[in-house]
Amino acid sequence: MESKMKPAGSISLTIDGKTVELPAYSGSIGPKVVDIRSFYQATGAFTFDPGFTSTASCESQITYIDGDEGILLYRGYPIDELAERSDFLEVAYLLLHGELPKAQERTDFNRSITLHTMVHEQLKNFYNGFRRDAHPMAIMVGVVGALSAFYHDSTDINDPVQRKIASHRMIAKMPTIAAMAYKYSIGQPFVFPRNDLSYTANFMRMCFAVPAEEYTIDPVLVEALDKIFILHMDHEQNASTSTVRLAGSSGANPFACIAAGIASLWGPAHGGANEAALNMLEEIGTVDRIPEFIKRAKDKNDPFRLMGFGHRVYKNYDPRAKVMRKACHEVLDALGVRDEPLLKVAMELERIALEDPYFVEKKLYPNIDFYSGITLKALGFPTDMFTVLFALARTVGWIAQWSEMIVDPNQKIGRPRQIYTGAGKRSYTSLDRR
Ligand code: SDX
Repeated sequence: MESKMKPAGSISLTIDGKTVELPAYSGSIGPKVVDIRSFYQATGAFTFDPGFTSTASCESQITYIDGDEGILLYRGYPIDELAERSDFLEVAYLLLHGELPKAQERTDFNRSITLHTMVHEQLKNFYNGFRRDAHPMAIMVGVVGALSAFYHDSTDINDPVQRKIASHRMIAKMPTIAAMAYKYSIGQPFVFPRNDLSYTANFMRMCFAVPAEEYTIDPVLVEALDKIFILHMDHEQNASTSTVRLAGSSGANPFACIAAGIASLWGPAHGGANEAALNMLEEIGTVDRIPEFIKRAKDKNDPFRLMGFGHRVYKNYDPRAKVMRKACHEVLDALGVRDEPLLKVAMELERIALEDPYFVEKKLYPNIDFYSGITLKALGFPTDMFTVLFALARTVGWIAQWSEMIVDPNQKIGRPRQIYTGAGKRSYTSLDRR
């Protein structure tokens, strides 16, 4: 990847009488950066930014977010245009290659992914090691991490051909592995992928088909899920993507890096929020109990937060939530469950939160997880599969970001420092003197 940062002046910083001139750079759009790589060497001090609220960890050309304006672009294309007009594999190609595919490129890419959808037969043995009630994300972390044991021919990260094969294998096999986790949890037989189906139709069939009868593909529901997958594909340097990059910076194989990303996504503050948001709506239960939960969300002594609200970057409406909200209504209408009680609670909770001064002042808007839970439940997925579906879609972003990191000339192993406030040097004392 050739750097496209442009010089944009510099800043001077003085600490303990030492002054350092730090160069600034601008990108194509968005905030400038101050290059502090020489800061410690020049001043003997570290910068301090827990949670990385003001830190750019890398240069990237994949996804752009403007939190104040509520903008999300994949390789420059607005997320709502892609969600409305494209499909999962075409957007996957865009994220991986930087341009929308021409006809032959699209055919070849789709064919390559299709031919990698099956998993090694022995991979099934891993599932039997889990209890049936294991959380599907626990299964995903384990099985995806184990893939490197099966695909030694695509773990050399320095070989671009192996990186491409590993990338296609990961994107192709995630739906199969995810569907197998679901089937295992309900005691039904695994369903093989079919090469005549689209990526998302294949996934829905592997989840919901049973050997006893033919499974009917519902194009409206497939299109809605495909849209949901597009919305979840990438999101700049979020916690799980940063985890994948950090794991990859040590030279770990791509399967291990994706397993690390799945582990990070699982947290309720991140990808686990869609499951947590639906559990919260079910706990609220009825519209009249909303004020009680709003009160708890404002109470600093109560750890409760409104799941599906707020975002580290978006201080405006999450653009994905707008598309998600529309897809939610389309699915509920298609299924004739428009009067789904949880939707009523969700709509009223959104209305109240958007008017409440606490949420307005703190710019806590609904995020993508707020409506995805209701939609996925209506599509027939159990709550504990929601984050698995998020991981399925985000695998494309993780792979694209990992691939970009590998070829970044500025890339080196990630190794942050710290400010130490622990005990000073002291000698060991024997037991009788403590
Ligand atoms: C995802 O990073 C990404 O891009 C993530 C993601 C992606 O695609 O990868 O977009 C996916 O993870 C979306 C976020 C899903 N998480 C949730 O819905 C969980 C609920 N949200 C919160 O946990 C929280 O909003 C975070 C974790 C999302 C953001 O945490 P921050 O950055 O610490 O929040 P903040 O600094 O903006 O909070 C400002 C204030 C704080 O109060 P004060 O300390 O200023 O008094 O708002 C409060 C927070 O306590 N606050 C909330 C709240 N979120 C923040 N109060 C009540 N309910 C909430 N949901």
